[in-house]
Amino acid sequence: MPDVTVVRRLRFNAAHRVHNPALSPEENARLFGKCNNPNWHGHNYTLEVHVTGPVDPVTGYVVDLGQLRDLVERLVVNEADHRNFNVDVPFMAGINPTSENIVVAMWRVLAPAIQPGRLSRLRLWETENNYVEYEGR
Ligand code: NI
Repeated sequence: MPDVTVVRRLRFNAAHRVHNPALSPEENARLFGKCNNPNWHGHNYTLEVHVTGPVDPVTGYVVDLGQLRDLVERLVVNEADHRNFNVDVPFMAGINPTSENIVVAMWRVLAPAIQPGRLSRLRLWETENNYVEYEGR
């Protein structure tokens, strides 16, 4: 059976403050700029979930995209949507919410739960111009 990758895109918005408490206020401001704003700010995020696996001979699917959407919404999107990554989102507790750290935390929640197929890539867009990718390595 050929391996095919299917992709589901989900959108959410969330607030954050990128801040490392081990650094001084000046260093935080220099490193993180506007994303260090003490009273938070928001982003319209887009998450792309890539799942790779054999095409099921009965359904013709790798994975049912509706079921995949429901799973990703339940496990990560609904946890983050209209919330604040620094204070509201259990899987980000104690983690500086850069896009890099968010995508790795989402991977750790999603990878064990996705089947059939396997999670092969997560791509998280923070703005129209900036995204990060993680492939579990
Ligand atoms: Ni930001």
